[in-house]
Amino acid sequence: MIGLNAGTRQEPKEHVGGGAEGHCHARVVTPGRSAFRAGAWCIPTRAPRASIRYLIPMDDAPPPGPGLRRSHLRPGHPDFLDLPWALQLEEWDGRCPRLEDLPAGLSRHAVRFVNYGGALYALKELGPGEAAKEYALLRAMAERRVPAVSAVGHIDVRSVDEQGGARDTSVLVTRYLDHSLPYHSLFLRSDLHRYRAHLVDALASLLVQLHLSGVYWGDCSLFNTLFVRDAGALQAFLVDAETAVLYDAIEDVTREQDLFVLEENLAGALADLQALTQRPAPSAEALCHDVRRRYGELWALASRPEMFRRDERYRIDERVRQLNRAGFSVGELSIEPVDGGELLRLRVLVTDRNFHRDLLHTLTGLEVLEAQARQMVNEIHQVRAALSRQRARSVSLSAAAHAWLMERFEPAVARLAKRCSGEAPAELYCRLLEHKWLMSEAARRDVGHQAALADLLTRMAA
Ligand SMILES: Nc1ncnc2c1ncn2[C@@H]1O[C@H](COP(=O)(O)OP(=O)(O)O)[C@@H](O)[C@H]1O
Ligand SMILES: [Mg+2]
Repeated sequence: MIGLNAGTRQEPKEHVGGGAEGHCHARVVTPGRSAFRAGAWCIPTRAPRASIRYLIPMDDAPPPGPGLRRSHLRPGHPDFLDLPWALQLEEWDGRCPRLEDLPAGLSRHAVRFVNYGGALYALKELGPGEAAKEYALLRAMAERRVPAVSAVGHIDVRSVDEQGGARDTSVLVTRYLDHSLPYHSLFLRSDLHRYRAHLVDALASLLVQLHLSGVYWGDCSLFNTLFVRDAGALQAFLVDAETAVLYDAIEDVTREQDLFVLEENLAGALADLQALTQRPAPSAEALCHDVRRRYGELWALASRPEMFRRDERYRIDERVRQLNRAGFSVGELSIEPVDGGELLRLRVLVTDRNFHRDLLHTLTGLEVLEAQARQMVNEIHQVRAALSRQRARSVSLSAAAHAWLMERFEPAVARLAKRCSGEAPAELYCRLLEHKWLMSEAARRDVGHQAALADLLTRMAA
């Protein structure tokens, strides 16, 4: 396998063969180096960023037979050369040992999942040139830090169709979103009514985050959303970016259009769910109403300007804290005097909804979802207060976070994961926090971390 890591100074490695087909003569080149040769189908039109490696065929002419024709991949991932590219994705069963059977939502295009040493990737087969476009959109969304699947690259392919003719396609490669579920798998076993409030929150929050970042989705639906359990609630991720448009700032009419599309699509998805589960699904009308209301609340919270008097400047801090509590990170504040200078108007630029996630990551290096992080940061604050009392001096948040990580999080997750390996470690830990809270409420006192852990482990074993 060819390593595609950024910054390596090795000579380009030659690679022959695209797995079973054995026709793909390719090598890795660093743009700008001598091996990078002109050719109708192998040069990028402008110099790409240094971190990107292009995999180009060695000959100037495209390879004669079917197979991989060009790949464009971010570093740190496999080269995917061993996949049976001469076949259409739908034909891979029994021909590709890396295939994984995982739940997927309904889609127009063929989607397959492959496993490279435990790292899972999703491959989506699109028309020529389309994967590059969706890749670019997903990369731009990642820069704007919206919750979406992570793009790895795109691959141009010539495969053989049913009649034996050549068929040009492009394949979008994304990292499989760990612990994610398409909506129908999530609600197949559990009662949608129980999750209804979480579903509403997750969808509204995703749309607000996209719109705050200037992204118009254009195809917001349950089919194009993946859900991940986030501290007992749900976080929604965009999975299909095909129709998205990116703006510097989104206009109200464009936001409205996205909400309209969602409403149109929700009805179809709920009917589909009802047919699948044979259980009554919630009313689409009521669900749309609730998503719109929740969206409106969150949008207003994140974007409304605030007016205050000159002697009320504490309200700037208050507004930032209020946004942070709701998970919004604040990038910039702008204050302008109005009404002859008597009043000040505060506008806040919200950058994303990752406030606690970023804070926890800075403090501990852990990568978790926002609601999980909020619960953990709250616990770190409690640990800090307890340590400060014990030591009779103020303990820094970083020191408390370190103690929390070593004495609580890591040992607890190691024990819980032995009983329940399928769940994300952060979600397991949040289950423990929830369990402790329930036990403490029943006992009307703080039962403590160890007692809650012991009890939860006993229950999991039962
Ligand atoms: N990176 C990914 N992680 C997990 N599931 C994915 C990923 N990419 C695609 N899927 C699954 O494949 C389904 C179809 O993908 P989508 O991009 O919506 O295809 P289409 O453009 O054909 O509608 C999604 O609903 C999801 O279940
Ligand atoms: Mg889709």
